[in-house]
Amino acid sequence: LKYEPIDFVLFGTKGDLARRKLLPSLYQLEKAGLLHDGTKVIGVARQDFSQTDYVELVKENIEKFSGDTLCKDTWTKFQARLDYVQVNLTDTASYTELCEHVDVERTMVCYFATAPSLFGDICKGMDNAGIIDDSVRVVLEKPIGQDLESSKAINDKVAEYFTEKQIYRIDHYLGKETVLNLIALRFANSIFATNWDHNCIDHVQISVAESVGIEGRWGYFDDAGQMRDMVQNHLLQILSLVAMEPPTTLDADSIRDEKLKVLKALRPINASNINEKSVRGQYSSGFVSGHEVPGYLEEEDANQKSRTETFVALKVEIDNWRWAGVPFYLRTGKRLPTKVSEIVIYFKRQPHNLFGASFSQLPPNKLVIRLQPEEGVEVTVMNKVPGLTSTGAMDLQKSKLDLSFSEEFADQRIADAYEKLLLEVMIGNQALFVRRDEVEQAWTWVDSIIKAWKSSSEGPEQYQAGTWGPVSSIGLLAKEGRSWYESK
Ligand code: BG6
Repeated sequence: LKYEPIDFVLFGTKGDLARRKLLPSLYQLEKAGLLHDGTKVIGVARQDFSQTDYVELVKENIEKFSGDTLCKDTWTKFQARLDYVQVNLTDTASYTELCEHVDVERTMVCYFATAPSLFGDICKGMDNAGIIDDSVRVVLEKPIGQDLESSKAINDKVAEYFTEKQIYRIDHYLGKETVLNLIALRFANSIFATNWDHNCIDHVQISVAESVGIEGRWGYFDDAGQMRDMVQNHLLQILSLVAMEPPTTLDADSIRDEKLKVLKALRPINASNINEKSVRGQYSSGFVSGHEVPGYLEEEDANQKSRTETFVALKVEIDNWRWAGVPFYLRTGKRLPTKVSEIVIYFKRQPHNLFGASFSQLPPNKLVIRLQPEEGVEVTVMNKVPGLTSTGAMDLQKSKLDLSFSEEFADQRIADAYEKLLLEVMIGNQALFVRRDEVEQAWTWVDSIIKAWKSSSEGPEQYQAGTWGPVSSIGLLAKEGRSWYESK
């Protein structure tokens, strides 16, 4: 392996993220032979666990969440790396316990899988224990703040102890295979690279639909809403990768410089254009996949008066040369009919029709990038229907060139995004992590929308669970003669 052994310190090892995603991902890296022999995994939490109890807890979670039956050999290797340290994260003195378990001579990766309000305490505690040096890398989980101001406060706190080169801000969408494939698709194929602008593209749609509700996370979600939970990070990151200029290299800063330029070019949405450019919704009870589900205000712990949005649709414009006049429509929501994320590039119609009146409306070519599930890439093209006709006319038919990842790469397992990202942190490559200026630029744009919503007397529009969101979301495109792509 091309990286050094690591002391991987997992703060918040008992939390949801660690149990569902991080520990199972580390286990998968073990299985793939990608963990360095000398690497240790040190769980940190406030509970008093014996080593045996901790190992048992990790095992249970891996069995439950790794999506695999436990492989005995892999587990034997993995469990030998596990260690547990009891630390009260808000008590600076208790971090000295860690000194016994980490080796400051080695590279240390510290994953802060905790509420961001604890990031400052963790940095302080580590500093007090004398275990911070230039080789330490810290991984910060989203959400980084609630708005620009609180995000700056968190970033400032962490920056008192770590430089930007040591900070890895996670957006797990950047670890998804199909999101990474955007870079390959755009810059390794001249067929797309040369057609990727306002001359050829009519508009772009980015949809991230979820069928789940808020999964018992009322407290967190009601303060955040779909805008902060999904748009500020995941959707804006996808949009940046679709819209950015070619980076000079695949180095972290080359890519991040280009993404930042896109974020800076987003036309502001504010009180003057909020109704024209945005739709927000909140789900009421309904049926998802045949199951009856409660409305948002009927969820456990719900505040009946909440105006928090669980659905957002936006018309986004990018004020630069490449994208002038090309709208990007974004849509994301909870309790939609199915879980599906897609990017659809609608190319412009042909300028002249050779095929007669029956084809007066030749459909435009579309490139559909299926991010999840059924990862793949699909292009719709017009073809001549084979056969002889007495009129000599040419019949056309719309067909698909369809690349399905599960067929094309049948012997490759599609890794979870966290596996990819954890590996990148261990290697020390920041390219798939979000730089501070990107986070702050995204907040600047999002804050203005949230502010405009807040000042409006109207709340979110209701939509029935199991539908594609409020009716106005259809109107957002319909008034411009367009419609949302219908997933398979
Ligand atoms: C998380 C959000 O960042 O992403 C969740 O906090 C959301 O609300 C999740 O459900 C979606 O991720 P994925 O990988 O399942 O699409």
